[in-house]
Amino acid sequence: MPSAWKADRIRSATTTIFAEMSALALATQSINLGQGFPDTDGPAFMLEEACAAIAGGMNQYPPGRGILPLRQAIAAHSRRTYGLGYDPESEILVTTGATEALAASILAFVDPGDEVIALEPFYDSYAASIELAGGQRVGVGLFGPDFRLDHAELAAAFTPRTKALLINSPHNPTGVVLDRSDLAAIAELAVQHDVLVICDEVYEHLTFDDAEHLPLATLPGMRERTVRISSAGKTFSATGWKIGWALATPELINEITAVKQFLSYVSGAPFQPAVARALNEGDEWVEKARLDLQDRRDQLAAGFRSIGLEPILPRGSYFMTTDVRPLGYTDGVEFCRQLPTRCGIVAIPHQVFYDRTEAGRPYVRWAFCKQEQVLAEAIRRLDALRKPA
Ligand SMILES: Cc1ncc(COP(=O)(O)O)c(C=O)c1O
Repeated sequence: MPSAWKADRIRSATTTIFAEMSALALATQSINLGQGFPDTDGPAFMLEEACAAIAGGMNQYPPGRGILPLRQAIAAHSRRTYGLGYDPESEILVTTGATEALAASILAFVDPGDEVIALEPFYDSYAASIELAGGQRVGVGLFGPDFRLDHAELAAAFTPRTKALLINSPHNPTGVVLDRSDLAAIAELAVQHDVLVICDEVYEHLTFDDAEHLPLATLPGMRERTVRISSAGKTFSATGWKIGWALATPELINEITAVKQFLSYVSGAPFQPAVARALNEGDEWVEKARLDLQDRRDQLAAGFRSIGLEPILPRGSYFMTTDVRPLGYTDGVEFCRQLPTRCGIVAIPHQVFYDRTEAGRPYVRWAFCKQEQVLAEAIRRLDALRKPA
């Protein structure tokens, strides 16, 4: 293809390190701790509900905003979990995964030249969606080794062109969960500069130890300027179903819906009643999955310690970070390219999530949403790292 055919607006969307690493995983038969998807299914009753919906003929376009029982279940979940009420008729939109809710929100509110402040390292779809909208991303660092939000840097990131703030907590890839003081600082700045905040809360139920996810929208003055985004993918181990949602005021939801209808029109019909049932009846399953995941986190952390590598323990999400310098590497990309042949494991270098790549250079991300025996085998293979490369 002549390179002139390529649109400027999607400059960064080239072949990603994820594709390269997944191909390497296949070629070397490695354990893939690169991509973040669980290797176990969600609740059986949810899977059965989707099968029944297909068998029962729920195979045509559902309503554009999602079936009402799902919107009601999302509203009930939000009220029950956080005391945050939303009207299922006017304040909830079902989307094709959180990815579409993010893209539609950004396309609805960001014009060419507008700036969007986002926590850096960024989840990769943010950069692409902001670019598609013609916007400019402005990173505020969650930098190692402690990956804490620097409130002064956040305050300094605002300019007259700032249109929106994109917050992700629990955060991919660092595992940081923003605390009350972080959220208070974000809320104060958002009000002061009168900007919209898009909150990516897909890991809302995956928090560990004493960490607790607190939606920014619960803070005074924030509900009316916040779009809350989540998805069934992470909470119910169904990343392939691509059922997500956005919650916001009727005015905001109308704008996001206007974009969503021309991206995908509607979202997977038979999965919607299944996710509704999971949201209504799945609290116990979710809590057990969270505790299991915490065990897997601790299992992988112990594995790293056994080879003399101190992991940076995440308080949320299903990703763990290590600094690979104690293993004799200075660059995570080089480490990740060698890892499959050295010990049959694939991981992702942090650098790919940064604009300021230097800040991510020595860090590597490992997904631990895998079965106990898979992680046990990965840990056994990690032992090869004790030997010189
Ligand atoms: C931070 C973050 N946001 C959004 C998504 C995408 O969610 P979905 O699969 O529901 O589109 C992911 C998936 O990895 C993620 O890590």
